[in-house]
Parts: sequence; structure tokens; C-alpha cells
Amino acid sequence: MLNEDADTPLRDTQGVFESMDDGPMMDVGAKYDTAGLGLEEIRKSTKQLMQLTWLDIEITAQPSQKKCGCCASSGANMLTKPKVIIDHVSGTVQPGQFLAIIGASGAGKTTLLNFLSGREISQNLDRTGKILVNGSDKDTMKNFSSYSAYVQQDDILFQTMTVRECLTFAARLKLQAREEEKIARVNHMLKTLKLVKCQNTRIGGPLVKGVSGGERKRTSIGVELITDPNLVFLDEPTTGLDSFTATSVMESLSDLASKENRTVISTIHQPNTDIFDMFDRLVLLARGKIIYFNRADLAVDYFSNLGYTCPDTSNPCDYFMSMMSKESIELDYADENAIGEAGLDNQKIDEEYEKLIIFFVENYFKSELVCPAEQVHPDIVPLRDDDDSIQVQTPWFYQYKLLATRNFLNVVRLPQTSYVKLTTTCVTATFVAFFFWQVGAAHYVNPPVNSAGEAIYPNGENASQYYTGIFQNIQGSLFFMTMNVTMNAI
Ligand SMILES: Nc1ncnc2c1ncn2[C@@H]1O[C@H](COP(=O)(O)OP(=O)(O)OP(=O)(O)O)[C@@H](O)[C@H]1O
Ligand SMILES: [Mg+2]
Repeated sequence: MLNEDADTPLRDTQGVFESMDDGPMMDVGAKYDTAGLGLEEIRKSTKQLMQLTWLDIEITAQPSQKKCGCCASSGANMLTKPKVIIDHVSGTVQPGQFLAIIGASGAGKTTLLNFLSGREISQNLDRTGKILVNGSDKDTMKNFSSYSAYVQQDDILFQTMTVRECLTFAARLKLQAREEEKIARVNHMLKTLKLVKCQNTRIGGPLVKGVSGGERKRTSIGVELITDPNLVFLDEPTTGLDSFTATSVMESLSDLASKENRTVISTIHQPNTDIFDMFDRLVLLARGKIIYFNRADLAVDYFSNLGYTCPDTSNPCDYFMSMMSKESIELDYADENAIGEAGLDNQKIDEEYEKLIIFFVENYFKSELVCPAEQVHPDIVPLRDDDDSIQVQTPWFYQYKLLATRNFLNVVRLPQTSYVKLTTTCVTATFVAFFFWQVGAAHYVNPPVNSAGEAIYPNGENASQYYTGIFQNIQGSLFFMTMNVTMNAI
């Protein structure tokens, strides 16, 4: 399949931006589009096409060396022997392709995605295998993260900011360019992710009503895409969204791949049929093993030939999920043996499930669908470390100013939290005043004197004890106030 693709010329990225110039103008920041400023920069930065290839990846979780009480009680990493999470997995994804990684919970989707994206993964995971970016070893690349973006499953947006502000903040923080170029990028992102209509609506949260779930998700995708990455990783971008919103989010991502030649890799849970049709490539993972990796539209026929025919009325993805799930074996076993769930033989079921996966794996590797992962698309050029599309970090004082401004806005726009803090501070201040009132004041520091002019220290103390007491009281008040400020900051 890849051979056919390899001869296919990639889509013209330039054209996308040409057509963008003629599009309707936006209310805010529209002057920048009219002037056309910054678009040249956008064109320049999209020129790099990226192909990601991974060869024979194996990721194994090692049992924790530490035996501390907290790990034991939380159940974290209670492995007694090494556990293979990703089992000798290879594949490739090309520019313009939208690759979906699908599998049951615990199949290893996030672990694989994290490894491919170069994110820091747990210390106890041993990894072997190689990742190639445009044919070059990823480990030797200094700037891989500048070309790629990772959209996390959970949104990390400030509820008080508007959609446009979130994107503008990200553009200012991450891009080293003129202000006009940053605004042009924001406008482009709003348009691409279909956020123009809600650009001035706040994100919202428990205290403030804001944009819809889909718009929120698209905004967090936009925050990552603002640097114009050529390679995009997403971990379950549709989690928590209804079917319609999920489809619109995935449409945006599909457009990104198909119209702008980006390489998009996403894990996903239970996509509906419309979403399934958007995928160019499909990876089915079961217990860390690949049981299918090729064009998404060939999957139904392939499994049908193996005797697993998806009913016409079923969603192929739902069918694949049930086909790969351990629960289906449990049901069959319970039916065949006419026993209730309580009587299931877990070891037997585990063996049956392992056999099923081996059946799928062997058939896949015997089939013609196995992709020759090493092959690099003829249009792909190796990445250069001195490429001018690489984003340079903005200076720390500029970042500090932006963060301070954002926090200030957050406080002004969400005064409820400030009221709580103010009340707490007043109560604490009253306590401090009550206990430490006038500690170190002149009449304490200079005790009364007798007729002979000698100081009279209370409680029969001598001078040293008296002044040590005053000093300790001052120290105590300072300690109390410092602790209070620190705890508030946490
Ligand atoms: N650091 C680790 N140590 C031990 N086991 C781990 C570690 N990281 C992941 N695992 C295990 O590896 C398996 C795969 O985890 P992963 O998070 O990749 O699954 P997933 O396919 O993304 O699942 P989900 O769909 O629920 O997000 C799970 O069984 C998980 O418990
Ligand atoms: Mg996951």
C-alpha cells in the first residue's frame, strides 16, 4: 500500500494559504489579514513535511525497586515481574496522513504515543527500537520537539480567558515573530479550527459559563498547533465529547492532515462511523501487539476474510473493539460451558485471549498489508537543525510579563477566589496581631527602671533572658507569617 502512496505527489500546501487570503475577514485582528502581514511567514514555516517511522519498538515495565508504603497503598507499579506493554511494533506515517491508534483500555496506546512523541515517560519503562524522522534517527535530532506538538487528553486552559486570548497568549509565548505575524497565526488557527464565531467567548468552567465542550477541545488543540507543528500527536481528543462535537473536532484534524499536509497521529476511543471514515491509516493494538496496520478502509474486508465479518449495520470500530476484547472470550466461554460469571476460569480465558491475539498477529504478518516501514516518501527531505521554521524560545522576562498579565486578568475576572483569599488573610492577620501585638515595641525593649536607674525585668529574669525572649517572639511572628504566605501560595 505504501508503495502506491510513495508515488503519490503530496498535496499543495501553498494553495491552502492562497485560498485563505480570499476568505471572509474576522472582527478582531482583521486588519492584519487585510494587510496580508505575516502570511508569508506562515507559508515559510509549513514547508517541512514529516514522516515518522518506528522500528521494532518494545517497551517493558520493570517492577519498582522501591518498596515504600505510599506505593504499596496506592497500588502504583506493584509489578512482581517485567510486563511487556508494547511488543515489537513497527510502522510509518507520512505527511498528509491521519493515523488512528485504536485498542481496548490498557492496550498500550498512550504508552506508544508518548514514546513516539518523545515525551518523558515513566522511569521504570525500558525501551528498545528506533524512531526515524524523515529517515534520520530521532535520538540524534536536537529540535524534534520544535516540529511536533502533543495535545493532552485533559484541557489546561484558564476558564476566564476567551478563545482568542488563549490562542494569542500561546502565540506570544511560543513564537518568536512580529506581533502582526502572531495575530495572523491566531486568525488562521481560529479559521482552521472553526472557532471564529466563539473567539470572544470565555472558556468557562464550574464558576463561569463558557464555550461548548467541542470548542474548548478545539481551543486546546489550537494552543498546541499555534507553532505550526508539522507533526501532531493527540491522546484521545474526543474523550468526553458527544458524537456531533467529536466529529467536528476530528474533522478539523482531518483537514489539517489532508489540506495542509501535516502528519497527524491520534489515539481514540470508539469513534463513530463518520470519524472512522476520516482516518487514512489505522493501527489496531491488542495487548501491545499490532494486529492491523494499514489503510483504514481496507480493515473491514481484511477481517472479513479472516472470518470476522462486520455486520453491515455495525460501526466497524465498535466491531473491532469487541473482536479484540477479552470480554468477548469470556462471554463465549460462559455460553459454551453454561456457567455463570462466578465460575469463569480466568487462566483458561487468558490463554484463549492470548491465542486469539496470536492468531490475528500471525495473519497480519503473513498478509500483503504489512507496510515496509523503512521506506521514505520521495518528496521527503531530511530535517536540518538550522531550518528557519524552528521556533526559538522567547526571552524569560517576556514570558514572565505574559504570565503575570494572564494571572492578573484571571484574578480580576474571577474575583470570587480573591474574596476567599482576602477573608482568609484578614482572619490570619487578626490572629497574628492578637498574639504578637507590639512585640519589640519601645516600652518592651526599654523596661522600666528603679530609682537607682536599674532596669526591672519581669518574672525575675536577667537582661540576657529578657532580650532573648523578645527576640524569640519577633522570630516566632516572622516564622508564622512566612509559613502562612507559603501555604497560601501552594
Ligand atoms: N509505568 C508503568 N508501569 C507499569 N505499568 C504501566 C506503566 N505505564 C503503563 N502501564 C501499563 O501498561 C498498559 C498500557 O497502558 P496505556 O496507558 O498505554 O494504555 P491505553 O491503551 O492508553 O489505555 P486507555 O485507553 O485506558 O487510556 C496498562 O496496563 C498500564 O497499566
Ligand atoms: Mg490512554
